[in-house]
Amino acid sequence: MLETFDSQNWHDPFHATDQSRAVAALEAGKVLFLPRLAFRPLNSETRFLSADLAGGSRKNVSYDPVRGALGGTKPGPDDAEISAMMQRFGRDARALVTGLAPAYAPHLEQARTSFRPVPVQGRAQSVRHDDRLLHIDAFPSRPMRGRRILRVFSNISPDGSAREWRVGGHFIDYATRFAPRVRPPLPGAALALASLGLTKGRRSAYDSLMLGLHDAGKFDANWQRDTSYETVDFPPGSTWMCFTDIVLHAAMAGRCALEQTFHIPVAAMARPELSPLRMLENLTGKILA
Ligand code: SIN
Ligand code: FE
Repeated sequence: MLETFDSQNWHDPFHATDQSRAVAALEAGKVLFLPRLAFRPLNSETRFLSADLAGGSRKNVSYDPVRGALGGTKPGPDDAEISAMMQRFGRDARALVTGLAPAYAPHLEQARTSFRPVPVQGRAQSVRHDDRLLHIDAFPSRPMRGRRILRVFSNISPDGSAREWRVGGHFIDYATRFAPRVRPPLPGAALALASLGLTKGRRSAYDSLMLGLHDAGKFDANWQRDTSYETVDFPPGSTWMCFTDIVLHAAMAGRCALEQTFHIPVAAMARPELSPLRMLENLTGKILA
């Protein structure tokens, strides 16, 4: 379930054999693990490695590279420095993805960067927002219309705590089990959400199904208890990445991680038939996006 790479530098080139190993593993739903690839905050930035940074009920600080805007923290005099740290991580993450999967590079859409300073155990949550339950990622307000969600994580915890994940079984088994329970959205719902500004553009049938799958698994306490998974510890100073739209995952413990999200069109994949869009279209017999 883990595919390990030995790099220590974000901008190092990769051999063609490592590139094909990376792409094959990612697209098959594995997690790429880079145990020696550390993101090192500058000395002046270590003061941000504190749960206090996230304002109020927010769990994550986010940085939007398109608008250059910081969110999830109270505006303050440190904003420029926090943004700079997150931008640096975003650039490093992009270099890593480009190095490992050059075929994705021209199509990479850089979405939000997030900083997660709050201990996983202490993040207040509803079942739907509880990322300690196994789930696939689906965005309620950002319709993907089939595009992939690729996420790069680094553990930058200053106190030695590992980020502990559970990684579950295969997407197709999960989808086969839960898709029949997902109710289709009411007619007109996608248009209404978009006109109210609740989604950024219109949700496709794919988005509704992915959100339904996300929720169905989280709300099935028996399945959560009985399904098989493996536990993985990502130590401080390590980096990992995966397509979180097919990798069943849960974050059980840890503090202070950085994360960069990329969106990638299905057409950029080496094996588009392994995308959740194509797998769900096969499963349902419908065109979903
Ligand atoms: C998640 O994507 O579910 C949370 C992952 C993490 O914060 O480690
Ligand atoms: Fe998630």
